[in-house]
Amino acid sequence: MFCQQHGESIHNTEGRIGGDADLSARGRQFSKALANYIKEQKISKLRVWTSWLKRTIQTAEGIDAPQERWKALNEIDAGMCEEMTYAEIKEKFPSDFAARDQNKFSFRYTRGESYEDLVARLEPVIMELERQGNVLLIAHQAVLRCLLAYFLDEPPINKDTLPVLCWVTWGYNVVGDSGDRDKLSPSTKCF
Ligand code: F6P
Repeated sequence: MFCQQHGESIHNTEGRIGGDADLSARGRQFSKALANYIKEQKISKLRVWTSWLKRTIQTAEGIDAPQERWKALNEIDAGMCEEMTYAEIKEKFPSDFAARDQNKFSFRYTRGESYEDLVARLEPVIMELERQGNVLLIAHQAVLRCLLAYFLDEPPINKDTLPVLCWVTWGYNVVGDSGDRDKLSPSTKCF
């Protein structure tokens, strides 16, 4: 299995979470670089899995391999906070913001999901991945944290492992800093 986060979306450029935005111009450049990179790897019988969201589908666009869409790979549902920035969430829902800071793993967004919920949602995907050959999975930050926790054989994902996994999901980035996200070196992880 190979894992890759989607390219930069328009929401990413605005610091907005969730939603279903298109890729930005840099995201589209990244998608082309990824397609070239995957072609060079000459991976046998490769298949590509994305979520149902445009940013993963557009990231996979140029890859010459059969593709499947999985709703279960969609990003964590931030409920009432969807499409807001973290600053807006802090201002509008200060107690939720503080509660998430205290225990990000168990915190469930109002009318949305927690990481715990996400882990449960991903179980069937994990079961299926275990039986597959070469799959390139293009997904989202929170989803990849959960999948990597499983495949990297980390202890169950929790508030201590999250920061490390945060770094791993971006690969070419550092925690909390999206400044280098435009670097066109795909960081596909292989398991
Ligand atoms: O900011 C991009 C994003 O994929 C959001 O859509 C999602 O809510 C968030 O990352 C998940 O990361 P965190 O759990 O660190 O807020």
